[in-house]
Amino acid sequence: MKIQKPTGTQDILPSDVEKWQLMENKARELCRRYHYKEIRTPIFEHTELFVRGVGETTDIVEKEMYSFVTRGDDQVTLRPEGTAGVVRAYAENKLYGEPDIAKLYYIGPMFRYERPQAGRYRQFHQFGIEAFGSTDPGIDAEVIALGYAFYRELGLRDVTVEINSVGTPEVRAAYRAQLQDFLRPMLGELCKDCQSRFDRNPLRILDCKVDQHRFEGAPSILDALDEECSTHFAKVREHLTAMDIPFRINPRLVRGLDYYTHTAFEYKAAGIGAIDTIGGGGRYNGLVGQVGGPDQPGVGLGLGLERVLLVLAAQGVELPAEKPLDVYLIGLGEAADSALARIAYDLRGAGLLVDKDYTGRKMKAQMKSADRFRAKFVAILGDDELAQGTITVKTMATGEQTPVPLSGLAEYLKTH
Ligand code: HAM
Repeated sequence: MKIQKPTGTQDILPSDVEKWQLMENKARELCRRYHYKEIRTPIFEHTELFVRGVGETTDIVEKEMYSFVTRGDDQVTLRPEGTAGVVRAYAENKLYGEPDIAKLYYIGPMFRYERPQAGRYRQFHQFGIEAFGSTDPGIDAEVIALGYAFYRELGLRDVTVEINSVGTPEVRAAYRAQLQDFLRPMLGELCKDCQSRFDRNPLRILDCKVDQHRFEGAPSILDALDEECSTHFAKVREHLTAMDIPFRINPRLVRGLDYYTHTAFEYKAAGIGAIDTIGGGGRYNGLVGQVGGPDQPGVGLGLGLERVLLVLAAQGVELPAEKPLDVYLIGLGEAADSALARIAYDLRGAGLLVDKDYTGRKMKAQMKSADRFRAKFVAILGDDELAQGTITVKTMATGEQTPVPLSGLAEYLKTH
């Protein structure tokens, strides 16, 4: 039987890896400018972390986790998202003890047992940031701005930001009761998912695609906010306006994770079939405490990288292509070919992008390789030239050929 990759996973082949590196480099570079430091946490954690952190009644915990028991009888789970692990690491390593707030970022694979479709995979990658230790609405806005800048600088167009305030747990409890009163009379007509969420997680019902049309007159959480929540939300909007970041207030925006308080937001873009959310995040003031740390506030985002590539492709945006070779080396004759090993080693040591043939093909086939690699130069070495200590350098753009002393080859290639 031919073994194939597991459902919902993808091989990222060399022809695509360049795009991934470009996105990752952009993420790192932006984080340098916004002053976020990288953190790398384990890809699996104790299952309990996600149950407590992400929330018992979320889809992720109820049906999407890759959980298993280890040989040592530990219950562990492949991380379905990045925040819980970073929060755990922040608490466990006492990063809250530092005088400055902690601004962290991560890039890596996440795992959810979802039904795969375009833009939805079982192993996918997120670029995420988390800022701990401040309740200043300015940092909510900074997080939203960083995500927006990431998309913009990669060339994505028409990204919209939707924001909402999901209040504090107290505000939500009061709103939850109002919402249940509104939904109760129609409960029998709602879809199975909505019905099962009515008691456990009624706010998520507003997210239902099937029953959306029934929620026109639903009470808005924004009317239920207390003064502290309203002020925080107004300040975040003020900052976004000052930064000229376009946003839309969506009072029905409820994220799929339970830890949010105050600000919740999503980035939307068309181009991936039914899926239009390409990233999201928000504030989570109680989460650090929930996983056993001190009562420190946090805010962050997670952006799906596969979705960025899909939207870029749908918009016809080309990311810069692979770097061409500086030189492709061709040896004519055994002695010359073997001498190229050392020459290639030296040129690479001098910082040049170099390759050669290893399959004993004829010169014509090797020239074709040089073309495919878009080599700037081809350097051809024959046994006679080797004896004289020279090599013939062909400039591919003009076809011009020049004999160059081997001792000056790196210098020649760098300066022409
Ligand atoms: P999330 O909304 O669950 O939030 O995921 C963030 C992003 O990850 C999504 O908008 C999407 O782009 C991508 N994503 C999620 N699931 C999949 C999937 N199955 N296949 C492909 N892409 C996917 C979080 O994960 C939070 N940790 C974000 C956050 C950080 N909030 C605060 N800090």
